[in-house]
Amino acid sequence: MKHLYGLIGHPLGHSISGEIHRRLYEYYQMDAEYRYFDLEEEEIGSRMNDFRQNFSGLNVTIPYKKKILSYLDDVRDDGALFGAVNTVVLKQGKAIGYNTDGMGFMKLLKQNRISVQGKRICILGAGGAGSALAPKIAGSGAEEIVILNRSLHKADEVAERIRRSVSCTVRTDFPDLAGKYLKYCDVLVNTTSVGMSPRSEELSLEAAEQLRSETAVVDIIYNPRKTKLLQIAEQNGCTAINGLGMLLYQAFYAFELWTGLMPPEALEQQLEHELVF
Ligand code: ATR
Repeated sequence: MKHLYGLIGHPLGHSISGEIHRRLYEYYQMDAEYRYFDLEEEEIGSRMNDFRQNFSGLNVTIPYKKKILSYLDDVRDDGALFGAVNTVVLKQGKAIGYNTDGMGFMKLLKQNRISVQGKRICILGAGGAGSALAPKIAGSGAEEIVILNRSLHKADEVAERIRRSVSCTVRTDFPDLAGKYLKYCDVLVNTTSVGMSPRSEELSLEAAEQLRSETAVVDIIYNPRKTKLLQIAEQNGCTAINGLGMLLYQAFYAFELWTGLMPPEALEQQLEHELVF
């Protein structure tokens, strides 16, 4: 029997999830299909019945990662921690939500031998991605987290949520004041959309020139593969990592939730080279 999977979001023009999952079906010689559903919000409810009956899993992307919650039977693990879901397991008529973005991010760090344990981390952005990764990093043993966001109230909300559950020092500030934190920051993570194609000339951190070579810089943007932030980080002698590994690993973890199979690291490396976007 053919297994059906899908991605819901709006708009979906730029997504390469389908390409990744199709490569996994090929690798495992699975009879499966990954379909795109560019849906208006009002359509989600009526579609869920079909998904529950005929599909084995869904990915959920912008702008529905939070909105999907009201259509699910249960939300587990990071899905509950983040209050946002990117993967739905459909089994026996039930829809269970998870979030694999944080796991994808932590795997990317591990693969690059970057630890957050006891470290001081700066996070740029407090949007969908930032508000998910910050509690994940805090929960992984970071000593201090500084969330820098143009809309400071959003950073404050994320910080408050972290303080309620983890004993990690959490500070918030405006990105213009990043300089004072760069003096001691061990890992800097950009979660904003600044510098993403087609606006790849934009720089997400004005003070980037002040980056010390000891700071590892991770930009979760993967298109372009080397953002302006990563270019400056490299010039300053920092370890500089893009978001392609995170994208691939969040897809691998979703695939594992659906099938029980975790694709090998060699396949991740192969796809990093072969994916075209
Ligand atoms: P995502 O789900 O990809 O995180 P999002 O929720 O729209 O997308 O969040 C985008 C992030 O990029 C936010 O932190 C946003 O800052 P604000 O919360 O202040 O809006 C940040 N961002 C987007 N454009 C920006 C810009 N031109 N300058 C600074 N920050 C920007």
